Amino acid sequence: MDAIEALMTRRSYPRGSLIQPAPNRMALEKILQAAMTVPDHGNIKPWRFVVIQGQGMTDLEGVLRAMYEGQVEDEIYFNRFIEEIINTPMMICVYTALNTDHKVSILDQQLAGGAACEHILLAAHAMGFGGIWHTQETEGALRQMLQMGEEDQVLGVISLGTPKRTSGAKRQPFADYTLEWNQQSGLQPWA
Ligand SMILES: Cc1cc2nc3c(=O)[nH]c(=O)nc-3n(C[C@H](O)[C@H](O)[C@H](O)COP(=O)(O)O)c2cc1C
Repeated sequence: MDAIEALMTRRSYPRGSLIQPAPNRMALEKILQAAMTVPDHGNIKPWRFVVIQGQGMTDLEGVLRAMYEGQVEDEIYFNRFIEEIINTPMMICVYTALNTDHKVSILDQQLAGGAACEHILLAAHAMGFGGIWHTQETEGALRQMLQMGEEDQVLGVISLGTPKRTSGAKRQPFADYTLEWNQQSGLQPWA
């Protein structure tokens, strides 16, 4: 698949529609190396990746139960939520490793990490896998599990696997979201 085709055809697949196989080691290394190619102001690499698969996915149950302790209103729904997560073939958690002393802004560093999330999805898609990007509040059990700094945040929990069924996605025309500017005319709709 060439790059433009990968961009045009990527879509998200709900976690429950992702089955084995997950990317094998060789594919995973390619996906993560692709994520390392994002534009990175200051060459800080202000992200870390944590791969969770196999036993790690099973072990997530305890972390999830600790994270949501005392907040669960609907036990049945919560158990289904846990089940769906731990049955996901693979997850890559992307979180910031900010350099707060650097002259490059925190926003720039966070954006670079966000771009890494998208590269993971795109590279996986280009190799025939499917995925979805979720975010997650970085609190208690998760912060501890990932040994994250106080200032750092989870940018993405990317689920990966093979879609049960592939499908296309309906896309909005870019022109509805695009303007052109020059001094004389000011902002004008794209035409
Ligand atoms: C930062 C971020 C957070 C997201 N969080 C969720 C989420 O909580 N639940 C969910 O179903 N999808 C989540 N998504 C995936 C979007 O729902 C998905 O990209 C959107 O539905 C568009 O689908 P597409 O990727 O196929 O175009 C998230 C995407 C991003 C970029």
